[in-house]
Amino acid sequence: MCGIVGYIGNNDAKEILLRGLEKLEYRGYDSAGIAVLNEDGVHVFKEKGRIANLRENVDLGVEASVGIGHTRWATHGVPSRVNSHPHQSSTERFTLVHNGVIENYEQVKKQYISGVELLSETDTEVIVQLVEYFVNEGMEVEEAFRRTLSELKGSYAIGLIDNQNPETIYVGKNKSPLLVGKGEGFNVIASDAMAMLSQTDQYVELMDKEIVIVTSDGYTIKTLDGTVVERAPYTAELDASDIEKGTYPHFMLKEIDEQPFVMRNIINQYQNENGDLKLDDDIRAAMKDADRVYIIACGTSYHAGLVGKQLIENIANIPVEAHIASEFVYNMPLLSQKPLFIFISQSGETADSRAVLVEVKRLGHKALTITNVPGSTLSREANYTLNLYAGPEIAVASTKAYTAQIAVLAILAVDSARAKGIELDFNPLQELAIVANAMEVLCDQKEEMEKIAREFLAVTRNAFFIGRAADFYVCLEAALKLKEISYIQAEGFAGGELKHGTIALIEDGTPVIALATQEHVNLSIRGNVKEVAARGAYTCVISMDGLQEEGDRVVLPKIHPYLTPLVSVLPMQLISYYAALHRDCDVDKPRNLAKSVTVE
Ligand code: F6R
Repeated sequence: MCGIVGYIGNNDAKEILLRGLEKLEYRGYDSAGIAVLNEDGVHVFKEKGRIANLRENVDLGVEASVGIGHTRWATHGVPSRVNSHPHQSSTERFTLVHNGVIENYEQVKKQYISGVELLSETDTEVIVQLVEYFVNEGMEVEEAFRRTLSELKGSYAIGLIDNQNPETIYVGKNKSPLLVGKGEGFNVIASDAMAMLSQTDQYVELMDKEIVIVTSDGYTIKTLDGTVVERAPYTAELDASDIEKGTYPHFMLKEIDEQPFVMRNIINQYQNENGDLKLDDDIRAAMKDADRVYIIACGTSYHAGLVGKQLIENIANIPVEAHIASEFVYNMPLLSQKPLFIFISQSGETADSRAVLVEVKRLGHKALTITNVPGSTLSREANYTLNLYAGPEIAVASTKAYTAQIAVLAILAVDSARAKGIELDFNPLQELAIVANAMEVLCDQKEEMEKIAREFLAVTRNAFFIGRAADFYVCLEAALKLKEISYIQAEGFAGGELKHGTIALIEDGTPVIALATQEHVNLSIRGNVKEVAARGAYTCVISMDGLQEEGDRVVLPKIHPYLTPLVSVLPMQLISYYAALHRDCDVDKPRNLAKSVTVE
C-alpha cells in the first residue's frame, strides 16, 4: 500500500529516490514525495498524483546525497499534498516517511502531543512529532526513535532523517515490508528490492520490531530495547530487465504474454534430473498428515484457490475449504483435527492473509505459503513455502501470478496423491507443457480479443460472465479483472444459479460472456446461454476444442480437463485489457487500487 525508499552515499540522492519510487509506484500512486538533506538543511518536495508529477516539481538544483522518499495509497486522510509524505516535526528537525497503519495514533496524540498542532490528517504525522517530543524530553535521537516505536500499535515501515545529522537514516519495521540494501560506499532502504535493484542486489531482511541505523558505510540492526542483532545480506535474485516494460505499452500485456514462459519455468523448477516431480519432503509429509486443507487468500489469489480446492480434492482426495482471508479471520469455521493451512499470495505481504496466519500459528497449526516473492512476510512466517517463479508482477491486475498459482497447486495435488499411493494417469509436468503451447496460441489471437472487447464492452454499463464447474471459478476471476481495470460493473455467475434471481438483470443488449470448457456441463451451460439470449442478452461463447458449436467466438486448444482454467482465463485477461484500453482507463494503475495490500 505505499512504498518507501531511502539513500545515503555520495551520489545524487534525488534521482536515485525518484527512480526507486517509479519502480514502487505499483504499491500506491495517489501522491508522492521525497526529502533530501544537505548542509543547508532538509528540502521536502511532495505532490498529489503520480511520481511523474513529483519529478516535474523537484528542484534539480538542490544537491544532496542523503534522502528518503514515499509513494502513497491513502488510508488515513484523503490524497492531497498536505497528507502526502514526507511529514515533518513542528521544528522541521525530523522528517519521516511511513508505510502502514498506526492503530493507536489518536491515543498517542492525546497522551503525549495534545499541545502540538498537526498539519495533516494522517496517522504518520503523530510518529514524527513523537520522536521530536522524546528528543525534547532529553533523549538521544536513536533512543527517542526506539521509544516512539515501542509506543506504536499497528504496522509500520519507517525511514527518518534528522537535519542535525546528515550521516544517518533511521529505519524501523513492524508488519510492513522493509529491506536495507548494502552497497559500496552507500546504502539504501526500500519496501521492495525491485526499487533499488539498479543500485545493489545485496539486501538485509528486517524482522518485526527492529530498527536499523543506516549510514553510508554500514548498518546496525537493533531490537526496540537496543540489543544489537547481527544479520548478513542475501543476494536478491531478480533481473532488472524483468521489471522493465520493454516494447510493451503496458506491464499487464507483457505479463499476459509471459504466461507460457512462466509455465515452462515452473516445469523446470519443479522437476528433478529424472524428469519427475521435485517437492520438499516436509511439504509432502504435511499434506499427507492433514485431514483437511484450508486455503486462505484474497482477490485473484482466492480465485486461484478455488481452482486449487478442486484440484486437491479430485487428485489427492483430501477435503479442502477455500476462504477469503478477511472473512476467515473474523468468522473462523470449526476446524478439523489435523488442518493444514495454505496461504496463496502473489506478494506474500497481504495483511488480511497475514492476520489469519498469525492466528493459525497461535493455535499451533502448520502453514504453507504459495507466493511469488520468496522472503516475503507470509513466506518467512509460514512453516513451508512453494515459489511461483513467475518473475515480478508489476501491473496491479494479477495475470501471470494467477496461472502460476494454479500450476503450482496442480503440482502439489499430484505430489500429495502420489504420497498417499493414489494411482494417476495425469502427469502435471507434461500437461503443463501442453498448456504453455496452448497459451502461446491464444496470445497470438489478440486481434480477435480486441474485437470482442470493442464489440461487447466498449460502451456497456455492465457485463456478466457465466460458467459451470471450473468455468464458474474462472468467471469470477474474469469479472474481477474487468471490474478493476475498466470500471465496468461485472459479475461472474454459476450458470445454474441464473434462474434463481440474477436473470432479472438481463436486458436487451446486456453482454454475457460464457465459458464452455467442461464436458460434463456443456449441454447445461449451452442451455443457460439460450436462456439469457432469449431475454435479449448479447452473448459470446468461449469453448474448448471438441466441445465447440457453431457461432462460438473463441475455441481454446484442447488441454487436460484438470487444467482448463489455465487457458480459459487467458482470453478473459486479454478481453479485459482491451476493454480498459477502449475506455481510456489506466490499465497498469487502476484507480483506488494498489498492488500490495499491506493494511487490513
Ligand atoms: C487483482 C489482484 C488482487 C490480489 C489480492 C491479493 O488483480 O491482484 O485481487 O490478488 O489483493 O494479493 P496477493 O496475491 O498479493 O496476496
